[in-house]
Amino acid sequence: MKVCNTKESISETIEAIKAQNKRLGFVPTMGALHNGHLSLVRAALNENNIVIVSIFINPTQFNKKEDLKKYPRTLTRDINLLKTISDDKIIIYAPTVTDIYGKTIKSLHFDFDGLEKEMEGKFRPGHFNGVGTVVKRLFEIVKPDNAYFGEKDFQQLQIIRKLVEKCKLPVNIIGCKIYREESGLALSSRNERLKPKHKKAAPIIFKILKASKVKFKNKSANKVTNWVIKEFAKQQALRLEYFIIADVKTLKEIKRKSNQKTYRAFIAVYAGDVRLIDNIALN
Ligand code: PAJ
Repeated sequence: MKVCNTKESISETIEAIKAQNKRLGFVPTMGALHNGHLSLVRAALNENNIVIVSIFINPTQFNKKEDLKKYPRTLTRDINLLKTISDDKIIIYAPTVTDIYGKTIKSLHFDFDGLEKEMEGKFRPGHFNGVGTVVKRLFEIVKPDNAYFGEKDFQQLQIIRKLVEKCKLPVNIIGCKIYREESGLALSSRNERLKPKHKKAAPIIFKILKASKVKFKNKSANKVTNWVIKEFAKQQALRLEYFIIADVKTLKEIKRKSNQKTYRAFIAVYAGDVRLIDNIALN
């Protein structure tokens, strides 16, 4: 398994791949890989000759210093996990902060037509500028044909699509389904930090999302939202931060349903001190 730590070495490797006219897939990650990440890598391997997986804990997207400090760093384990999928078709790019940012670790400022102001944007100031900065940089270095992002972070996926459109980046963005445990809980590196009682309670999140989808067929968004708030009030181990039914294009909370639009429900919940997010397509 080839592991590159500098943009010079990854660029050299990529040029050799491009010279052979091979199709290049890209899966950006922050490491601490789990089956959710691996499902993206598998999708990328299906549609490309070579897949680059970047492992880079991006400092500018953390709005809380403690979160950056606490973020799991498991590079050796991650490499071994990727080896189990393919040893010769995956290349890892695990750069240092200096390799990506140089001397000044700063975000660019983006206008994502308001997508960055909704949901996660309200609760994590500066987060999407950090994501946009690193993903743009990584795209410029890796120059992939196709890049894969999880619907788990649906707002991030839409923002990356907007980034590509606005900056006219020559890459095709592919959204991948949320990978869940059998219990329904969406896989996340944060799940490792759940205490047993929170782990036990967390699958309720997806159960409530599924029930809200059924209710949305013949109830207003407002009624469904109030029902969800009431359901979470009964949950002692969980605290609802937000539940929003939004138009997938604008990510704005909807007031009135329209047949021509596509909606999704988005949720953020605290299980103890662990913040979990999830979402579901409604129509
Ligand atoms: P990270 O949280 O490591 O996630 C990397 C990719 O894996 C993202 O596209 C995310 O949506 C996807 N992913 C995570 N859990 C998933 C699941 N259960 N099912 C499907 N996909 C899942 O997202 C980031 O890193 C960063 O913001 C990054 C884009 C790498 C920029 O730093």
